[in-house]
Amino acid sequence: MSQMVDLVIFGGTGDLSTRKLLPALFQLHRHKLADRLHRIIATGRTVMDTDTFRLEVQQNLHNFLPKGGWDEAVWETFRNRLFYARIEADASADYQALAGLLDEGEAPGRLYYLATLPSLYGGICHQLRGAGVVNEHSRVVLEKPLGHDLESCREINEQVAEVFTEESTFRIDHYLGKETVQNLIAVRFGNPLFAPQWRNTFIDNVQITVAEDIGVEGRGDYYAKTGALRDMVQNHVLQVLSIVAMEPPASLRPADIRDEKMKVLRSLIPMTPANIKENSVRGRYAAGAVNGEAVKGFLEEAEYQDTDSTETFVALKATINNWRWAGVPFYLRTGKRLTRRYSEIVIEYKKLPFSLFTNDPNELINKLVIRLQPEETISLHTLNKRPGLTRELRLQPVELHLTDESQNKGDSYDAYERLLLDAINGDQTLFMRRDEVETAWRWTDSIIEAWEESATPIKHYNSGTMGPNAATALIAVDGRSWYE
Ligand code: BG6
Repeated sequence: MSQMVDLVIFGGTGDLSTRKLLPALFQLHRHKLADRLHRIIATGRTVMDTDTFRLEVQQNLHNFLPKGGWDEAVWETFRNRLFYARIEADASADYQALAGLLDEGEAPGRLYYLATLPSLYGGICHQLRGAGVVNEHSRVVLEKPLGHDLESCREINEQVAEVFTEESTFRIDHYLGKETVQNLIAVRFGNPLFAPQWRNTFIDNVQITVAEDIGVEGRGDYYAKTGALRDMVQNHVLQVLSIVAMEPPASLRPADIRDEKMKVLRSLIPMTPANIKENSVRGRYAAGAVNGEAVKGFLEEAEYQDTDSTETFVALKATINNWRWAGVPFYLRTGKRLTRRYSEIVIEYKKLPFSLFTNDPNELINKLVIRLQPEETISLHTLNKRPGLTRELRLQPVELHLTDESQNKGDSYDAYERLLLDAINGDQTLFMRRDEVETAWRWTDSIIEAWEESATPIKHYNSGTMGPNAATALIAVDGRSWYE
């Protein structure tokens, strides 16, 4: 599809659209990157006209653009691209009206971005087909969560597949759009230094932390039914893990990269009621203080429904059963209301077989620390001599920075900018294929079932800490510790 594209956002007045999609589209417009994008048609259940919608967007952009991002002149041209259409998800007449609006625009390409309740995705796709607005130039973007288990995910995928081919279906995981995730591919496969030792012979363990300081932020009802495992691990954490662990792909083409990621997901050993205790910790935040401010516990925030099995923190010890990674634990943790917001991958290399130096052996470990946010940095932790005239030779840590922030200044884009642009241009590399999402659910389901069968308790942690003490114990029993 190298023609002009109309973007239709279902859930166009919702949280994601307001906070992420519209600011990202404004930025693409400002940077003149969205040259193929013709119009942006937001749809929703609210009754309003396009002028009112434009006013709302203008106000919201002031709140959600990055600091200093507002630009009156850019807005004047951006606003003309915005349209609003009221659509009830199951009202065929509303889709006919949308068809009329699309015809007026005359853009041959159509990109439908579904950011509503996922249970509506199938119905929306069928309605679009019924209204005659799906053709060989049409694509669909599916926001997460795709279902709440393997069965519901399959059902959604089946229904969407009746209307859109796999090549036209873009399942988004915004973690794949983060700059450092792609930099990881560059570092792993672009450096002869790293490629040969990226394996169990040299690497002792891998840690992936996605820590948030925020709570559930007005999404408590959704979150109470979802929990951290489904909200973060099934998608973001497993996508990052599969890029860390994948074999070198045959090429950088989407199919080759997705094939390799898929093999990693298939090699994850399922959890069972017998091994779940030593391999997982579930937590839920209680009251505490985050960034110096007192905050309530999850259960005190509101009267959420279905909270009995809601965890806001999860730590896992995952095992990848293949030649490259046998024997290397992957420690994963994510949670809300933790000490601070950061996402990081830490590759810990093996200790020396024998040390010539008097340092504590735990200090003598090389690490590659890949920070996804808030900073986008990669640093190699090495050791050299502590300067001085003492007879005893002692080592000190030295960090080698593999990212040059001054060089990259000004080139930083939000993940949604990149992914929207890729979807407009038809590049599927950073989107999840159907078998990837379903395989990730299969592994996640094994954890949920094992938790249920073994009645794994949810442990409380104070807001502003790094989760329950049991998460420290999970890794400490292996003689290791989380990198902080
Ligand atoms: C979303 C989750 O997918 O990712 C949210 O639903 C979470 O609960 C968010 O807060 C985190 O994204 P980021 O990019 O801020 O780390």
